[in-house]
Amino acid sequence: MGSPRIIMKLIVAGIHDEPGDVRVIELKHQRKPLLPTFEPGSHVDVHLPDGKVRQYSLCGDPEDLSRYTIAVKRESSGRGGSAWIYDQVTPGAELPVSAPRNHFPLKESGGPVLLLAGGIGITPILAMARVLCRQGKPFELHYFARSRSLAPLLRTLEESIGAKSLRLHFDDQVDTLQDIEGLLSTRPSGAQLYYCGPLGFMAAVARVSEHWPDGTVHFEAFQPPVQDDTAPEPFTIVLRNGTVVPVPADRSALSAIRAAGVLLMASCENGVCGTCECGYLEGQPIHRDAVLSNDARSHRFIPCVSRATGVLKLDL
Ligand code: FES
Repeated sequence: MGSPRIIMKLIVAGIHDEPGDVRVIELKHQRKPLLPTFEPGSHVDVHLPDGKVRQYSLCGDPEDLSRYTIAVKRESSGRGGSAWIYDQVTPGAELPVSAPRNHFPLKESGGPVLLLAGGIGITPILAMARVLCRQGKPFELHYFARSRSLAPLLRTLEESIGAKSLRLHFDDQVDTLQDIEGLLSTRPSGAQLYYCGPLGFMAAVARVSEHWPDGTVHFEAFQPPVQDDTAPEPFTIVLRNGTVVPVPADRSALSAIRAAGVLLMASCENGVCGTCECGYLEGQPIHRDAVLSNDARSHRFIPCVSRATGVLKLDL
């Protein structure tokens, strides 16, 4: 997996627009003909001039390393990063981009693969479908969008994987929630589920797939699920060397740990990229991230958003 510390200065080699306020950006290296390899599900960090860092899935073909392709949806109510890229980035511009990292890998499995994408969540799923298609593995990709005219990358998808494995679900034609329930209420033998999309879609798929066994459901979120509105409580972190780090209610664990002198890398600071992940040894975390699997939650912690009750001993 690449390190977010490795920053490449890539040049915007092409831009085109897709439905749903989405702009597809192709990035190349000015001198090197090939970029670092990536697996389907990988993302890169894009560093913006104001210091913000945003993560974008690589939606191009992992076999074509002459370029990276990202798709940026303009979110006017977002945190500003995507709107800046959408509005300001032009062909020829230079963008600092990290090496690819993958928190959403395709697992080796003999069973069928079910890929579910909602809107712009098609980006990591498209790269997965390309690879599964090439490998001749059994899979179905279910693409959910408000309508055909608002579905980004649909033509690319149809050209890349063909109609055989692709199922479309548009809100203006069918009851998409009912479709999700129909798809996931029974798990085909040996099946693995991968999904990505906006908050409501993520919540619906998570709810309907609750009965799938641990280790068979994989997802990537753009933002953490909506939290209860309980006010954050102060808690205490203890480091491996015994240092006690108080975390006040108005401060993140990440910021408190860093203030105590621990060098901990971070990127999104929003609980979605996994860069700040660390282990915990004792205590009761309150997980608020959108990265860790249920299995991982028994021993891993995301300090940029998660908290704890009482004392949490970290493996740091
Ligand atoms: S910095 Fe991205 S999950 Fe913490």
